[in-house]
Amino acid sequence: MLKLAVLISGGGSNLQALIAAAEDPSFPARIVCVGSDTDAPGLAHAEAAGIPTFVVRPRDYHSREEWGQVFAAAIQEHGVGTGPEPGLVVSAGLMRILPGGFVREFSPFLINTHPALLPNFPGAHAVRDALAAGAPQTGVTVHIIDEGVDTGPVLRQASVDVRDGETEDELHERIKQLERPLLVATVREIAERHLDLEAVAAGRDPGPA
Ligand code: GAR
Repeated sequence: MLKLAVLISGGGSNLQALIAAAEDPSFPARIVCVGSDTDAPGLAHAEAAGIPTFVVRPRDYHSREEWGQVFAAAIQEHGVGTGPEPGLVVSAGLMRILPGGFVREFSPFLINTHPALLPNFPGAHAVRDALAAGAPQTGVTVHIIDEGVDTGPVLRQASVDVRDGETEDELHERIKQLERPLLVATVREIAERHLDLEAVAAGRDPGPA
């Protein structure tokens, strides 16, 4: 059984999809903790499901690296990133760039979901940037986190056509409708070892089929 630590900053609809999936006893992963950098409304989904939560605020530390060390330690307390089974850290709407020390602690068992077809539109405003660029298509990417900003190896993607005149919120919601099942399916593939993160990170596996 793959142990998951899920990291969020916002409403947590991707977290909610993972919680719902993991309620099925045949799902091969369990969420052991949910962490945030802020009092994210989505933490309520974890609390309602009886999953331990923690908040580690960057403003309480002198540097991003120091924050990252404390955030990593809080995850490891729940048995993810320690021992022979590394587990998996899932950034599902965490709106912070994870510092290098944190990434090296968990890599390559550290994935992110991003609302664009990377390498297009990395960063915190991916949906807005795709609309501003007049992109005819955008989508979602699940990728391994490396030390860059949304630059790690791509695992899975799904695309959506941009509609004339739609707002950022409307497009983001349509992306999220694809994102939630894609994230759940990718976690399942990792847990069932159909997707080998070490091989993808080492370039031995080309990633998306
Ligand atoms: C998701 O669309 C996720 O891809 C995005 O935040 C949203 C969180 O939604 N993450 C980023 O933009 C990271 N750069 P949720 O809180 O409803 O799961």
